Amino acid sequence: MNLFRLKIAFEFLWYWLSRPHRNGHGIHSPFLFAFLQEVFYSKTSDNSNLTAIRSLKIKASKSRAVVQVNDLGAGSNRLKQSERSLSAIAGMSSINHKYGKLLNKSVGYFEPQLILELGTCLGFGAMYMASGYKKSKVITIEGSDNLVGKSIENFKQMNMNNISVIHGNFDDILPSILQKNGCFDFIFIDGNHKKTAVMDYFKLFLPNITSDSIIIVDDIRWSEDMLEAWREICDHKQVTLSIDLFRMGIVFFNSNLKKQHFKIYY
Ligand SMILES: C[S@@+](CC[C@H](N)C(=O)[O-])C[C@H]1O[C@@H](n2cnc3c(N)ncnc32)[C@H](O)[C@@H]1O
Repeated sequence: MNLFRLKIAFEFLWYWLSRPHRNGHGIHSPFLFAFLQEVFYSKTSDNSNLTAIRSLKIKASKSRAVVQVNDLGAGSNRLKQSERSLSAIAGMSSINHKYGKLLNKSVGYFEPQLILELGTCLGFGAMYMASGYKKSKVITIEGSDNLVGKSIENFKQMNMNNISVIHGNFDDILPSILQKNGCFDFIFIDGNHKKTAVMDYFKLFLPNITSDSIIIVDDIRWSEDMLEAWREICDHKQVTLSIDLFRMGIVFFNSNLKKQHFKIYY
């Protein structure tokens, strides 16, 4: 285990033991308190969409199929070969149910019209978001053509008609997607976990967001590099509220909110 991973393991232990702001304790911002109560801590059982997405993921994680993956990003910490089993991709590279549910409920709460996801993989993140608010349109980008094919199969099987998957390298196609679609209300960055890349995408998004937009970054403690990117994002002058959930980070741009940073137990 390298020093960074050891540091993160201790940090996680402290996060888990101290459970910062659990159930919204000590949060005085009415905006954040309402968001936490409705999205993080509301005890609703899974609806039929969430149950169906979870079942599909369980099915994929038992599949023996093999997929040739052409990863254009920082790659995976655990999956090193380009030939990967569907079960490993579902289990290690796809979003898990807990965080998928968080995406789903956040979309349901904010009702964004246009959602952008960087990194489709098998399409689970896109499906969690798309089923959170059926009137939203999700655009998701994936560089590996075989994963694009698999995600399309999944979207069809789940009757997800509000998702468009675009095949290409973020670096090449993001500018034209942003130009064509205008403002995005909800952006999920979940691919190419390198500081320079994430910061480049974040800066590219800035002209295409409004003060109500949200950006979620996954795997902020995936590497030292990612943690630095996350800290730079929080410090950016346009970011007001930032929430560190240990695994994911969420930033808001609403100028009516005080610039504050919270680490919150989820
Ligand atoms: C962690 S997975 C995404 C998981 C997915 N968002 C989910 O919620 O299940 C990251 C994906 O990003 C893709 N990716 C990484 N860098 C890329 C790039 N520069 N352009 C296009 N796709 C990229 C990888 O092929 C991989 O499928």
